[in-house]
Amino acid sequence: MARVSQRLQRIPGSATLAISTRAREMRAEGRDVISFGAGEPDFPTPEHIVAAAQRAANDPANHHYSANAGLQPLREAIVEYTQAHSGVPVDPSQVLVTTGAKQAIFQAFAALLDPGDEVLLPAPHWVTYPSGIDLAGGVTVSVPTAMENGFKVTVEVLERYRTEKTSLLVFVSPSNPTGAVYTAEEAGAIGHWAAANGIWVLADEIYQRLVYQDEDVAPSIAGVNADLEDCLLVNGVAKSFAMTGWRVGWMIGPDDVVGAAARHQSHATGNVNNVAQMAALAALTGAQDTVVAMREAFNKRRQTMVAMLSGAEGIELAEPHGAFYVFPKVTALLSPSYPTTLALAEALLEEAGIAVVPGESFGAPGFIRLSYALSDADLERGVSRMLEVFGRL
Ligand SMILES: Cc1ncc(COP(=O)(O)O)c(C=O)c1O
Repeated sequence: MARVSQRLQRIPGSATLAISTRAREMRAEGRDVISFGAGEPDFPTPEHIVAAAQRAANDPANHHYSANAGLQPLREAIVEYTQAHSGVPVDPSQVLVTTGAKQAIFQAFAALLDPGDEVLLPAPHWVTYPSGIDLAGGVTVSVPTAMENGFKVTVEVLERYRTEKTSLLVFVSPSNPTGAVYTAEEAGAIGHWAAANGIWVLADEIYQRLVYQDEDVAPSIAGVNADLEDCLLVNGVAKSFAMTGWRVGWMIGPDDVVGAAARHQSHATGNVNNVAQMAALAALTGAQDTVVAMREAFNKRRQTMVAMLSGAEGIELAEPHGAFYVFPKVTALLSPSYPTTLALAEALLEEAGIAVVPGESFGAPGFIRLSYALSDADLERGVSRMLEVFGRL
């Protein structure tokens, strides 16, 4: 008899974490590794947030269990933040604070899906969604997008994949891994289609403030659609405030579903770490200039990366407008020696000390994901070294 349940046998480890771990190991062995694998800002958490956490750690009120759904001042701050950035009016009772957006996503699937329910997931997609859907008993229906269309789905394409079992659409803008950002008009049309067809929307807005065009926030599918009631918003402090390690995210939605997710959480983890919640409170309510400064730094790196990759032999690129990733197509570089992007990524890491994430992890073989959340010097050195290796293939 198998020692591990069939359910968990089907769940692969996170490929992005595996690459970062291998890159760290190689560095510990003294190798010069430049990693484009990171899914997190390279900046430290802003000082005023760390100071708030230090104060919170000294306060015995934070040494004990607290409300499962989150500290009330934080839930209230999340309400203000959501109104300001997503344009959605909500009540604190609709907010569930979670251990990172990841826990919100897993709990959202657990709260919404029954066995056999189909979830439309535009591909390329972030590695974690299919595992959450599978563990909740749902079925992932991957909806392909094309680089030529900026990796975005349209109502027309979604409609082709809709069946009577379709219960949920996962909508991520800006997207990991493609950096695609939907306009208000595009998000509006998709939200309207979902509402008209009784399909729930899980809107992952974790990168909403990392956008590099005219606006300083990505349009929220819930904010631009008054008729979209069956929608869960997922967000957190990880990416905008360089707080990935603090593990604070949240989910917002209708009372019944958020209440069900809260019951799930009350058994799984209970309240999120109080000190981290107080740090998140300082992030949301404090000065926002560090967010702007980080965004400007990412934008500069994005431009450098795009300039260096554009026109390089064997690489095709759609300019990303959000998050901190570029997602070039490299099929022209594949060969019998490196038949897949997985093989190419392994060779790049072992032979040249360059870590990239292969497209297979995102349901997009033939592509690689490069994060530009690394120092300017490493970025330029790393891309040059990678292009040198590609030139020799
Ligand atoms: C699209 C997306 N959503 C959610 C997360 C996870 O966020 P958190 O660190 O808050 O769990 C990530 C992290 O890479 C992500 O890329």
